[in-house]
Amino acid sequence: MAPQELKSLVRTIPDFPVKGIQFRDITTLIGHGEGFAATVDWLADGVRISGAEAIAGMEARGFIFGAAVSAKLALPFLPIRKSGKLPCDTIGVDYALEYGSDRLEMDPTSVVPGQNVAMVDDLLATGGTACATARLLRQAGAVVENAFFVIDLPNLGGAEKLGECGVSVAALMD
Ligand code: PRP
Ligand code: ADE
Repeated sequence: MAPQELKSLVRTIPDFPVKGIQFRDITTLIGHGEGFAATVDWLADGVRISGAEAIAGMEARGFIFGAAVSAKLALPFLPIRKSGKLPCDTIGVDYALEYGSDRLEMDPTSVVPGQNVAMVDDLLATGGTACATARLLRQAGAVVENAFFVIDLPNLGGAEKLGECGVSVAALMD
């Protein structure tokens, strides 16, 4: 399926979760079997070419795409979780969102020191989540050079912010 066709499967819901936000909802994309598969194929091609040895996905929507790509490429999947969810010792980082703030945590022993880890998420907005994730992964000893998104929202500066964090961005659609 062509990127324009895949884009037409993403629904936009105004004023969610707060007034003024145009929420790009991937529920309709993943609910379309062929569309979901084509999206995962596109992400997996990028990750494979990047040479990444593991994939980190951010809770919750990053799990949907990141885990599917990991399984397709038979690469380890590292879950980057919201605060208080992991039962083990964790490292964490606080970050700002387009509509609020949050905290991400991970198991630092899930990274092999020097391992090249690619990030996969559904959407890049301000870049706060992905930059915080890169910081967290690097704290655990990972090399983080690439991030792959289904959607890069234009005009919010996410790709520029990630560039400043030393991470290259690829996205299937705007
Ligand atoms: C969304 C999205 C990205 C992040 C992008 O997740 O899935 O992870 O926001 O925004 P940013 O580039 O401004 O950081 P959200 O935190 O809403 O959580 P969810 O996946 O649990 O819905
Ligand atoms: N995460 C941050 N901004 C978003 C948006 N506009 N739509 C969906 N998810 C988001």
